[in-house]
Amino acid sequence: PCCSTSLCVGDVRLRCVSVQVQAYLQPFRLSVEKLQDISARLRRDLIRGLGKHSHHRAAVKMLPTFVRATPDGTEKGDFLALDLGGTNFRVLHVRVVEEEQRVLKMDSQICAIPQDIMVGTGEQLFDHIAACLSDFLESQELKGQTLPLGFTFSFPCEQIEIDKSILIRWTKGFNCSGVEGRDVVQLLKEAIHRRGDYDIGSVAMVNDTVGTMMSCGYRDQSCEIGMIIGTGTNACYMEEMKNVKRVEGEDGRMCINTEWGGFGDDGSLKDIQTEFDLIVDKLSINPGVHTFEKMISGMYLGEIVRLLLVRMAEDKLLFGGQLSDALKTEGSFETKFISEIEEGDAGLENGKNILTALGLKWDLNDVRIVRLVCDTISSRSARLCAAALKTIANRIRINRGLDHLKTTVGVDGTVYRKHPNFSQELQDTVRLLAPKCTINFLVSEDGSGKGAAMVTAVAQRLALHCVLSV
Ligand code: GLC
Repeated sequence: PCCSTSLCVGDVRLRCVSVQVQAYLQPFRLSVEKLQDISARLRRDLIRGLGKHSHHRAAVKMLPTFVRATPDGTEKGDFLALDLGGTNFRVLHVRVVEEEQRVLKMDSQICAIPQDIMVGTGEQLFDHIAACLSDFLESQELKGQTLPLGFTFSFPCEQIEIDKSILIRWTKGFNCSGVEGRDVVQLLKEAIHRRGDYDIGSVAMVNDTVGTMMSCGYRDQSCEIGMIIGTGTNACYMEEMKNVKRVEGEDGRMCINTEWGGFGDDGSLKDIQTEFDLIVDKLSINPGVHTFEKMISGMYLGEIVRLLLVRMAEDKLLFGGQLSDALKTEGSFETKFISEIEEGDAGLENGKNILTALGLKWDLNDVRIVRLVCDTISSRSARLCAAALKTIANRIRINRGLDHLKTTVGVDGTVYRKHPNFSQELQDTVRLLAPKCTINFLVSEDGSGKGAAMVTAVAQRLALHCVLSV
């Protein structure tokens, strides 16, 4: 059976897309009304997460970060930074230069984290991190110095102070034993002491969203939101202290790490979860956890597409009803394939190569349908992010009693950076959903590295300020 209308995918017209294909894709298409409704649900959850008594049960954790100020441009010094929780684990040496208002990356090194360490013991993980840092310091001839260290640790942590941070739970495929419920700074220091070949100065713990906001904040002082759409997804923003009931004090602001990836973990997104989302969740390392993230981020998008393709092939809508062993294998359809297939000019050619490499027998219509599937899944992701970002921007606007808010969001993450249409769709949708906010998007220059150094630098500036004012 054919649909009555013709569909446009980029510049390629699909003369006839099976009604059945459309039926599979329809649940992924979220109307503006639905997005507004989702945004309103998130608004309620933000309030619940901030509450003194309601936060224990809140799906959206709203974690205080103890970052009380964005950069003012007077920060300076040399710092080390560690970045764990994105695509790679990295060690960096960063210099903040006051006169030039610049953050310079002096050098950095990527260390692989082998799969067995990702799911091994906490001691193995931190010994590995300490060993990588040792190699790096050796190569940079920095072992004699005791530099302050910014640790970008991109997992949900209950922060007690800037240098005391308890892991609530692992996400994004990590599952090291004996770390949940423990202070990550302590575990890092213990591993360094076990080695005994170098030392580090004061430590500042940073979520990647916070690093992103802070690194953009140095360039644009109206940057008060940080957002990541990469392996995982999350955002932070500057909240009024009087609303942060869990931390003493009423004055000023504090950056809140929303952990919006957990939105829906209490069942509040059941109406938009498709059967494919439920399978992705069930097969993941952490079922029932980070529901919103599993509809949006790079760790999961490829798998959603793969499950759809398998089902469509089984229903004889694709590949003449033939599957390949590769396509039947979990994780074989990488998220980067989505970007490659949606690429303007080269997309169809890329699609053919990818399907061939997956051992599939395709015709041109198959490639077009695959492209339509990719487009539908990435588009849902961008629109869901837009709904969530609207909630945050609107909250800042209302907090400040403004009719109109002009603000900047610092953004990072492979999905946002690498996908050909994602950022545009996200921005267009936010404009539609939040007419009272003008949001400027600034792609962070290495927020997880330089931003961590910046948080450490701001913390030092404030500490110095405290000492001076006492
Ligand atoms: C996951 C983590 C969160 C992080 C995000 C982006 O959602 O829980 O802390 O910010 O991924 O890396």
